[in-house]
Amino acid sequence: MDELRFNKIAAGFLLAALLAMGGYKLSEVLVPHTELAQNAYPIEVPETGTVVASAAAPAGPEPVLALLASADLAAGQKLAKKCTACHVFEKGGANKTGPALWNIVNADKGGADGFGYSQALADFGGVWDYVSLNAFLYKPKAYISGTKMNFAGFKKPKDRANMIAYLRSTADSPAPLPTDAEIAAEIQ
Ligand code: HEC
Repeated sequence: MDELRFNKIAAGFLLAALLAMGGYKLSEVLVPHTELAQNAYPIEVPETGTVVASAAAPAGPEPVLALLASADLAAGQKLAKKCTACHVFEKGGANKTGPALWNIVNADKGGADGFGYSQALADFGGVWDYVSLNAFLYKPKAYISGTKMNFAGFKKPKDRANMIAYLRSTADSPAPLPTDAEIAAEIQ
């Protein structure tokens, strides 16, 4: 092999090597080698050991006092159809399966004359203010364990607000709307 031919072959290899390196660099520029911020296919690994209580616990009745001033009375009246199998809302209405509900906002709990309340409700105490109506209508049996009111409750805060607004309206002089201070206290 003469020297020139050897040099040509060597130069050829060198050129090929340079091209390969250049190609690699070029691909680095065109398709940067960045780390993914997240797995493209996230793998759910359940946390073991500590159970996060807030995740398992029911959300509980969300606050509704702030919604009352702008609640939808007509929607509340419609929701009241879920109650009329057991309750009468009209003034002077009789007790049925459930006690008469005219003027219920701020009335004594278990206060309807002549109604045979469960021991649980009779002993509960206090008045039906907006906060307790919100809790009761969210899940009656959770708020008064042992109540004989068989109603699952309203899970949507808006439904409870509209329902409570309707209860408020079934009175000669509706109870005052919650004050800003009461609204703030409910959220805490
Ligand atoms: C299946 C029958 C039934 C349905 C439906 C029902 N209730 Fe009742 N409700 C009762 C009974 C029974 C009681 C008395 C519970 C007790 O003594 O533990 C009661 C009690 C109440 C009380 C307490 C009254 C008081 O005098 O202390 C309120 C407020 C009330 N219901 C509101 C409602 C509303 C609002 C609805 C509709 C969204 C509704 N209930 C649906 C049966 C029912």
